[in-house]
This record gives sequence, C-alpha cells and structure tokens, in this order.
Amino acid sequence: MDIKEEQEFLLRVGDEKFTLPYREAIERVNKKLETINKTYSEKLGRTFISSQSSRIKTPESCLKKMIHKGYDIKEKEAQSRLNDIAGIRVICNFLDDIYRLANLLQEEEDVEIIKIKDYVKKPKASGYQSLHVIALVPIEGTEKRKVEIQIRTQAMNFWAVVEHRVIYKKEDNGKAAFEKDLKECARQIYKIDKKMLLIRKRMEQNYC
Ligand code: GTP
Ligand code: MG
Repeated sequence: MDIKEEQEFLLRVGDEKFTLPYREAIERVNKKLETINKTYSEKLGRTFISSQSSRIKTPESCLKKMIHKGYDIKEKEAQSRLNDIAGIRVICNFLDDIYRLANLLQEEEDVEIIKIKDYVKKPKASGYQSLHVIALVPIEGTEKRKVEIQIRTQAMNFWAVVEHRVIYKKEDNGKAAFEKDLKECARQIYKIDKKMLLIRKRMEQNYC
C-alpha cells in the first residue's frame, strides 16, 4: 500500500477541478429529468417521477473502490473506470415507468447511454432491484463525464435503503442471518410492484 499515492489521490479527487465537471454533468441530467417529468406527468395524468436525488462519490469511497477493483490509484483511472462518481437516483411509482424513463433518456440527443444494467429483470444475488443507466454527458470545455442513473420504484427504494443500512458493504459475519429474509422481502416487493401496476392498468381501462 502506497500511503503517499493514496493521499495524493484523495486530495486530487476531492478537488474542485476534479468534481466540477461531474457537478455540471449531474445538473445537466437533472434538468433533463425535470423537463421529462413535467411533460410526462401531464401526458400520463399522474406523477411520473416521484423524486430524484444526486450525489458525488466521496474521495474515500472512490479510493476504496479503486483498491477493491485493483485499479491504478490515479485520478484519470478513476475518471475512466468508475461509473458512479456522479450518481443520480430517480424514484418512480410504477414498474413500467422505469423502462419508459430509460427509453426517454435514450432519445435525448446529448445524453449517450453507454451501458444499462437491468437488476429488475435480473436482480442481484442480494435481491437488489433497480435499473442502472450509465450515460456519457458532454461538459463545456472538457471531456464528457459518466453519470450513473439508478431508476427504481418506491418499493424497490424502500428495500435498497433499508438493506444498505443493514448489510451492503458491511463485512461483519452477523449479516448472513438477515440475507435470506431480505431476499424474500425483495421477492415480495416485486410481486407488489407488479400488482400495483396491474391495478393502475385496470383503473386506466375503466376511466379512460
Ligand atoms: P459498487 O462498487 O457497489 O458501486 O458496485 P459496481 O460498480 O460493481 O456496480 P453495481 O451495478 O453492482 O452497483 C452500483 C450501485 O448499485 C451501488 O453503488 C449501490 O448504490 C447499488 N447496489 C448494488 N448492489 C446493491 C445491493 O445489493 N444492495 C443495495 N442496497 N444497493 C446495491
Ligand atoms: Mg456505487
């Protein structure tokens, strides 16, 4: 472990020079999401995006991930390898809205989707569900930056937030006891999401 190299990395990755383009990328995508939300909430006659939040990954968390993945501890390497330095989380009410939103993002001209990880169709071993859209976003005067957009339902978010507190990224052995139950909860949540969608569709048939 090269302490000096790591300290240098932490300083650089925490510096405004490194973070500013990511902030701009987030701002750009946030604006797009707001516009999409306005248009589609009107079009659909219901709330499309229930809430959205964003964050920049802390230097410590970047370093931890770089070490874990065995990457060179260099800021350029972080920029090219880490998808989630800029992260946006979007919460929808319904399962089909997740894909509707992903499709709408794909239609945006200056947002280039480079990867989609569908943990709804294929949940993670933990039970985690979400659609992750990795986008390349142009920034004025510099190279594009990657933004990870996590799209999920309220129910999926409830599960992920609770599970994150209890288990994710924790190394202690006691967590195994909760894993089975949490996985079962994730399955129930998927069932509920499908049922809620069905209810909405039936209501739409009756009232439209
Ligand atoms: P990370 O190092 O966790 O960022 O993983 P990754 O870069 O290999 O990507 P992955 O698609 O597995 O996960 C990206 C993000 O999804 C994470 O940073 C979390 O926000 C979320 N996530 C992934 N797996 C889980 C999980 O099992 N539980 C919870 N609560 N969140 C998860
Ligand atoms: Mg992450």
